[in-house]
Amino acid sequence: MSQATDIQQAVDRLAAGGVVAFPTETVYGLGADAQNAEAVARVFALKGRPAENPLIVHAADQKMAQTVSDGWPVIAAALAETFWPGPLTLVLPKRGDIPDNVTAGGPTVAVRVPDHGLTLELIGAFGRPIVGPSGNPSGYISPTTAGHVSAHWAADDVLVLDGGPCTRGIESTVLDLCGGVPTILRRGVLGAEELEPVLGRGVEYAHSEIGGAERGGAPVASPGVIGSHYQPRTPVRLIEDVSSLSRDIAEAGGPVVLLSPPGRRVRVGVPHAAIDMPGLASGYARKLYAALRQADDIEPVQIIVVMPLLQDSEIWEAVRERLRRAAS
Ligand code: TXA
Ligand code: MG
Repeated sequence: MSQATDIQQAVDRLAAGGVVAFPTETVYGLGADAQNAEAVARVFALKGRPAENPLIVHAADQKMAQTVSDGWPVIAAALAETFWPGPLTLVLPKRGDIPDNVTAGGPTVAVRVPDHGLTLELIGAFGRPIVGPSGNPSGYISPTTAGHVSAHWAADDVLVLDGGPCTRGIESTVLDLCGGVPTILRRGVLGAEELEPVLGRGVEYAHSEIGGAERGGAPVASPGVIGSHYQPRTPVRLIEDVSSLSRDIAEAGGPVVLLSPPGRRVRVGVPHAAIDMPGLASGYARKLYAALRQADDIEPVQIIVVMPLLQDSEIWEAVRERLRRAAS
């Protein structure tokens, strides 16, 4: 099949209220017509996603993105011009005609323009925005290949557009522009260092420690950043100190899969397995979800992640957050 045929089929599916999985630079999304409440409900149902967790709306360009928001502040325009298409999601006051289930009944809407040619073509041809939560069952690891998505759903339920492996590998940075201070609700590859020069002011990070709100901490504004998430079926253990690794492996009480970075590579024999992780943060992020899925599919008793030593960048922080939640 040609790509044009694929896109036409996908557009038809969206127009009929169906669900299309689409590639982005971050992770694959589960797309549906953002103006069609029933189609959006189908996405929630397929994912088993709690109704109180709002969806990101995906647009083909800034102009289309503006149609979902009530007003477009100068800083939104500056960010859009600098980072779109790209891994940045903006939270803004929502326009009245966006179905309530898209925003979980809230007054704000999250929107971004993803950086993937196939998907920009898809949304452009469809002519209006689509919702796009990550294409995994709620709580499981996000998909970074078409195969990851296809593993979860029947072709009748979800038409998968194959755009190759995702180049970034972790979800977009979610930036809330509704309060006084621009606030990062979810970390991604873009952080304060990239955003502040464009905003001309400081940004804050919301407290999104694992279970922050559940543990009695301050409630967070983005429901999706609390609680367990990105979790394999297999329990995950994070190891900072490798000196007692043999004991840690023995303690697992059965076969383990080890993920280790360069310089901290661990050689293990049967019945264990090892997956080598890249040393650079960008490469680590790109491989992370595929590695966790691969490890999970082996069905060990535990996945042991030997943490990288150098973690001084935004991408490492974002990776760390995913790993913490995979292990929570
Ligand atoms: O990279 C991404 O953002 C991917 C790709 C497919 O674009 N999408 C994605 O969607 O990660 P999802 O649904 O897995 O995560 C969306 C996150 C959740 O944490 C959700 O709570 C938050 O965005 N969110 C959505 N709408 C929001 C809103 N109005 N206010 C605050 N947070 C919002
Ligand atoms: Mg998700």
